[in-house]
Amino acid sequence: MINIPKGTKDVLPDQSYKWRFIEDTAREVARAYNLKEIRTPTFEYTELFQRGVGETTDVVNKEMYTFEDKHGRSITLKPEGTAGAVRMFIENGLASSPLPVKTYYFTPAFRYERPQAGRLREFHQFGIEIFGSESPDTDAEVIFAASSFLRKLGLTDYRLEINSIGCPACRAAYNKALREYFEPRKADLCPTCQERLEKNPLRILDCKEEKCQAICEDAPRILDFLCDDCATHFDKVRHRLDTQGMKYTVNPDIVRGLDYYTKTVFEFVSTRIGAQGTICGGGRYDNLVEQLGGSSVPAIGFAAGIERLMLLMENTGCRFLEPRGVDIYLAGADGAGRDAAMSLAEILRDAGICAETDHMDRSVKAQLKYADKIGARFVAVIGSSEIETKTLSVKRMSDGTETPVRMDSLRDFMQRSVLEFMMAQAQSLK
Ligand code: HAM
Repeated sequence: MINIPKGTKDVLPDQSYKWRFIEDTAREVARAYNLKEIRTPTFEYTELFQRGVGETTDVVNKEMYTFEDKHGRSITLKPEGTAGAVRMFIENGLASSPLPVKTYYFTPAFRYERPQAGRLREFHQFGIEIFGSESPDTDAEVIFAASSFLRKLGLTDYRLEINSIGCPACRAAYNKALREYFEPRKADLCPTCQERLEKNPLRILDCKEEKCQAICEDAPRILDFLCDDCATHFDKVRHRLDTQGMKYTVNPDIVRGLDYYTKTVFEFVSTRIGAQGTICGGGRYDNLVEQLGGSSVPAIGFAAGIERLMLLMENTGCRFLEPRGVDIYLAGADGAGRDAAMSLAEILRDAGICAETDHMDRSVKAQLKYADKIGARFVAVIGSSEIETKTLSVKRMSDGTETPVRMDSLRDFMQRSVLEFMMAQAQSLK
């Protein structure tokens, strides 16, 4: 037998409704914030991530799935969604459409990391990216959208942490201070961080090695180096969050693992899913569009890991909206009954009702047992007497009530029942 590759997961038929619930909730939030869906390819030219995400990040340096295609071009399975969204924005000239351009996406992402709870090699993100606004209100709105999403999933066990990592102007002074701090400690850093010290000392703060993390504890913090513009921007974001009553803590240690960020960065973190506690992360990236060949367009976004959300929901007993399942099972008592069941099922399905019939040559008794097993909400047996009277006895499985229904009004009967069921279900989730 061939096994599933390490760090990947199947979604089984009886679990997929959980994915559906998370995705539907995400779409509902996207709709409320006027975000439009985008889809970008699963693979891009490697250079996009090298230039976009940054050569000194772990993601680019160690974790990308990169290969040459048959023409010798270097291709990479996307490790995240932002770089592709920015390429799409530039390549399709979206900068000339009315700004801001507000987008969202679902995407698989691939990172060659050591798999553990909440850390996979293929995982999935719901992300949003807003292009064209430099207003701190947009930062706040993006955070509100993430928060609304988590709330609508029923999650409560998480906290919001924010930070500002400044712009290239304040970063220059900060990098200098970091170099001065790390230089005397260089010998104790891991080889990768020794290299980072030359190229991009900020990345040392993000190193997963314990010895580097210990050295980082007393390193200078970016918040002490913000220029006036970045400090004012951060104050305004905080003010907007405060006005809206959004709870957060300022965590000066958040630097994020990707190079494109400027100014506001944030993470929603939980302690209920093990070491990989970040369920959602994002921030502003005002220079990335220009850096990848577009005009100067500020942008901001976030991405939430669907598998981590699922884990947190399961660990904290959140409810997933369960699928409606089989509305009616039509059991055939004999040849003519089976024929009628199949025709009726098609009429019902055409009206959006989930109808099932027997394909396993089961006896009526076995069909009814099966109908019960798959949770059919209604059951009707069709035999020669039902065909003759053109009337079915439709049994509601929850309480055994039987209702005589004429075959030509079965569709209306079932449509009413489906509506009632959906209304009751929506009510129960409130
Ligand atoms: P990120 O923090 O690298 O940011 O990833 C976002 C989320 O993806 C994480 O918070 C986590 O939930 C999930 N995630 C990351 N790696 C894994 C993994 N190996 N296994 C399972 N889940 C994972 C970004 O990707 C940015 N593109 C977010 C962004 C959008 N910033 C601005 N716009």
